[in-house]
Amino acid sequence: MSLIGQSPARPDGVPKASGGARYADDFTLPGMLWGATVRSPHPRARIARIRWRPERAPTGAVCVRAADLPGPNGVMLIDDSWPILADGEVRHVGEPVALVAGGDRLAALAAREGVEIDYEPLAPVLDLETARGAPPLAELELGDPGVEEALAAAELVVEGSWRCGHQEHIYIECQAMTAWFEPDGELVVAGSMQCPYYVHKSLVHAFGLEPGRVRVKATAVGGGFGGKEDYPSVIALHAALLARASGRPVRIAYDRHEDIVATTKRHPAVVRHRTGVDRDGRLVAMDVEVEMDGGAYRTLSPVVLSRALLHAAGPYRCPRVRVRGRVLATNTATNGAFRGFGAPQVEFAAERQMDRVARRLGLDPLEIRLRNALAAGDRLPTGQVLDGTTAARPCLERAAELTGFRERWRELEAARAGRRDGEPRRGVGLSLFFHGAGFTGNGERRMRSPVEARLDPEGRIEVLTAMTDMGQGCAAIFPQIAREAGGLAEGDVVFAEPDTSVVPDSGPTVASRTTMVVGGAIARAVVDVRDRVLAWWAEREGLETGEVVDGEIRPGGVRFREVAAAYLREVGPLEVRVRHEPPSWQSFDEEAYRGAAYPTYAWGAEVVEVEVDPDTLAVRPLAATVVCEVGRAIHPTLCAGQIEGGTLQALGWALLEEVRLDEGRYLNDRLATYIIPTFKDSPRIDVHLLERPWKEGPFGAKGVGELPMDGGAPAAAAAIENAIGIPVPAIPATPERLFERRGEALAGEGAAGGGGRER
Ligand code: MTE
Repeated sequence: MSLIGQSPARPDGVPKASGGARYADDFTLPGMLWGATVRSPHPRARIARIRWRPERAPTGAVCVRAADLPGPNGVMLIDDSWPILADGEVRHVGEPVALVAGGDRLAALAAREGVEIDYEPLAPVLDLETARGAPPLAELELGDPGVEEALAAAELVVEGSWRCGHQEHIYIECQAMTAWFEPDGELVVAGSMQCPYYVHKSLVHAFGLEPGRVRVKATAVGGGFGGKEDYPSVIALHAALLARASGRPVRIAYDRHEDIVATTKRHPAVVRHRTGVDRDGRLVAMDVEVEMDGGAYRTLSPVVLSRALLHAAGPYRCPRVRVRGRVLATNTATNGAFRGFGAPQVEFAAERQMDRVARRLGLDPLEIRLRNALAAGDRLPTGQVLDGTTAARPCLERAAELTGFRERWRELEAARAGRRDGEPRRGVGLSLFFHGAGFTGNGERRMRSPVEARLDPEGRIEVLTAMTDMGQGCAAIFPQIAREAGGLAEGDVVFAEPDTSVVPDSGPTVASRTTMVVGGAIARAVVDVRDRVLAWWAEREGLETGEVVDGEIRPGGVRFREVAAAYLREVGPLEVRVRHEPPSWQSFDEEAYRGAAYPTYAWGAEVVEVEVDPDTLAVRPLAATVVCEVGRAIHPTLCAGQIEGGTLQALGWALLEEVRLDEGRYLNDRLATYIIPTFKDSPRIDVHLLERPWKEGPFGAKGVGELPMDGGAPAAAAAIENAIGIPVPAIPATPERLFERRGEALAGEGAAGGGGRER
């Protein structure tokens, strides 16, 4: 029986649930010191002077400033423009200015008193409006010169401006890292991260060490959601600098408050649409402008913007599309990778815009989407022709059928007018969404991620990759793929820990690429090792080359592991390296923004029902029905779990989660004040998987980890509009914001509001 489509227990489940798993903050080294960070209290200031006053710090404390760095003062990501420690100027509250270490956690915190910094405050840029005056951190255009003409000729043009706020990752485990130097001078760093080789690259760059003299080990990861893509390099560098200064191992572990203050967040965005349609509601032109708040430094913003541009038109067919995007700099903490990577912001806007267009035409939300949903053979704005697994319409139809969406929406539209005061209002909203998995553009082709497989002394196949399981489940899915590909039994395949001295650089655990991209390479590597062993065995025994079924070689009935152990004894070590090969037809012109930015897309449709308190305007999500096309679900329970989790994360972003700032300082920088959904706030989430196996993915799988993040917010916002008639142009849709909007709605800017013109 095939292992694909089964849901075995995850191997990391019991250790994680029982406390057995070792997280970054769990292991202690002899003589270890604790590190702490001295941070800027100003959103922007010149650093006039920094003095280290050891007499004010506990005995034995050490301090590191920018002047003490052994090499370039830059965290190497796409470039190294993000300072490791501020030098000359601070650009956001919480920016690291100096590092200290002491004998224990309290001594480290006390050692901060020994650092004296004189600042001269400068005028900060705190919002996008002011930021427009300065050069952007990134700028891109997906152009179509025919857009203006097509808009001018359109029968109806609808304008809309949509805004989304920050989001904090709130992984369960805060950022933590330990660094030390081995007696031979090797720098070792162990901690919580998604991308061991990103951390490795930044250490090599900053310390000027040979790559082989730096070793990075990922410990168990208590959630990442993108937040452990970029920031672990910073904290690893900090721990390593303190280890260098003190000659001792150093641990830095943030508490929740520091984690919220210091680490990256989702980019807030403003997205403006001008949409041209004909009388039947068919899209004829779209002009989209995306503006994102990158915070103080560039970091990963150019790639976040790129993905945003490529998803900005939504899953809709439109012959003329132009998308222009900019990331602007503000004096707030750097914004970075977060599940969806720019797509949730633009898909929120695209979906809200479709609802607005529908209202102007008198169509319901399902109808406008059915008329415009992409189908196989359609072209994306980059010219890419969609493959046969394209499932926008099937997802829509299924979601509508499961929820009786059209009737329910109409019933609640009609009921809105007749409600008595004090009566709770119900509303339903619909969203359609898609997500391209893997690196954007030619990233996968440049990387050609290697995976290795080798025989271990017990005749098992050991697979080596740099991927980490941050909760998404690759610790369970990889063995399923490996065993199914090789015909192997449980225990015949083992996986190496992600340690850069052992595993190859199979790329970062990001971009929903783990299962789809690396999983495919794992299958090929295992098959390669198996076939070499089989060929040797057949020759030695004078047999036809057979097959392996459930760990047994047929014909013959010998255990594969025994034969593999014999191979090792008689022939010697066997190790193979295979590389991920993107589909040969996939190519993308990164200058012109033309071609296939992703080899395929996963699709989803979602219906959310909410209840709104008419007095407080508090919104309670009651039910979410999510239909996702995922290629093939390798492990349906985990796949559905990804969709449930991503949906709730999206609803949190839409309804509750608000990073409030005053003069560049977070006002709600603790879990007591930054509110994320708990079980009590969670609606019933029904997940329905559609499977259209994609021939290039392992056993047909597509990447799914980020997809559900794209659909929840627009569906929830649409449901609020259906319930109370207030358009929701900005999220989070907190009661305070809805009150502001209610004023506008009463003043005549009702649900059908927004600019535009008709011919
Ligand atoms: N699920 C859990 N439980 N924890 C996480 O940190 N990260 C998300 C998503 N799901 C995350 C998660 C992000 S940001 C990505 S890119 C994908 O998982 C990565 O997994 P995949 O490549 O297997 O889709």
